[in-house]
Amino acid sequence: MIIAGENIVYVDNASTTQKPQCVINAIVDHYKGSNANVHRAGYELANRATLAYATARSRVAELVNSDVNEIVFTRGCTESINLLSRSIKLKPGDEVVVSMMEHHANIVPWQEACKRSGATLKFIPLNGYRLDLEAAKKIITKKTKIVSVVHISNVLGVINDVKQLVDLARNVGAYSIIDAAQSVPHMNVDVKDLGCDFLTFSSHKMCGPTGIGALYGKLHVLETLDPFQYGGDMIDTVTCQDSTWNRVPHKFEAGTPAIEAAVGFGVAAQYVKERYDPSRENGLIKHLYGQIEAMINLVGELDSSILSFTVDNVNMYDLATYLGLKGVCVRVGHHCAMPLCESLGVKAVLRVSVYMNNTIEEMDHVADCIREGVKKLC
Ligand code: ALA
Repeated sequence: MIIAGENIVYVDNASTTQKPQCVINAIVDHYKGSNANVHRAGYELANRATLAYATARSRVAELVNSDVNEIVFTRGCTESINLLSRSIKLKPGDEVVVSMMEHHANIVPWQEACKRSGATLKFIPLNGYRLDLEAAKKIITKKTKIVSVVHISNVLGVINDVKQLVDLARNVGAYSIIDAAQSVPHMNVDVKDLGCDFLTFSSHKMCGPTGIGALYGKLHVLETLDPFQYGGDMIDTVTCQDSTWNRVPHKFEAGTPAIEAAVGFGVAAQYVKERYDPSRENGLIKHLYGQIEAMINLVGELDSSILSFTVDNVNMYDLATYLGLKGVCVRVGHHCAMPLCESLGVKAVLRVSVYMNNTIEEMDHVADCIREGVKKLC
């Protein structure tokens, strides 16, 4: 792939993806021909902007098979979970259940919500690199108010059986939340089939712009929640002392939204839906693993588009720097999952994460560079 005139192999897609020309064009074209505020004026340009914003919502809804009004635009997965952690009211004695393989975005907002409310945060442990579902059955009880779990681990590459966790939550009357940041970009995720109350994902991990993402919520559940932020567009009526709220999803979108980002997100949703191929991506990862298997310690499972590992007697930051110098872009560190890395006893993990534009030839090159780097560094 040529980026900024350089031939590089970009395999840090779990962090953020590169953007196709159609997404870049959609944003530029929006600025050139439809730039105005939305929901606020009746002139032609404003109508075009409002229509573009609504179309983007429909495209994102279509990607996860939701109804259009069940998609709230947020700044991304992190803000979606923060919204829920503020808008779902907890009380002392309530329990929030997450798992040991969560990203910080699905831990820290709940820590703070529990501190504010007197609720307790509980963790589903791992069995090897997978969730211990037998333990989950004991941890999820009548006290559980929220079960919030990741679909595909950004570190381990493990695909969780989230449908089973949604069922466990439903059986005790708890809300189910799925962090789908690493699944929606890569595979068919159908909210009706999963039956979850909420599902969160980010545009920038699926060929779209940064600064925008989505919160899916069942309409009747979203209708019961308090707003997250207050201001323009999220209201129905305002008097000097009180206000009433706009209908869902607008109730959760205070202020002027990221209109051009939504337009790019909508185009990215269509682009990804037409092209994603999880088995091809998984094939690339398995091909790479087959070439370096003897020299690495796999951290996780080969379920998805992610391969994480350590190497005995090699500093993973040094190896990532070496790969960077060779034009191979990978991520190294705790990957915003410090409790997970701590529990596994690993400080820094090197991660290769592929997407639809990566090739077998690139995997061969990455494997050669890893082999060379390890030889030089150990
Ligand atoms: N969550 C992103 C990652 O795993 C940033 O790299």
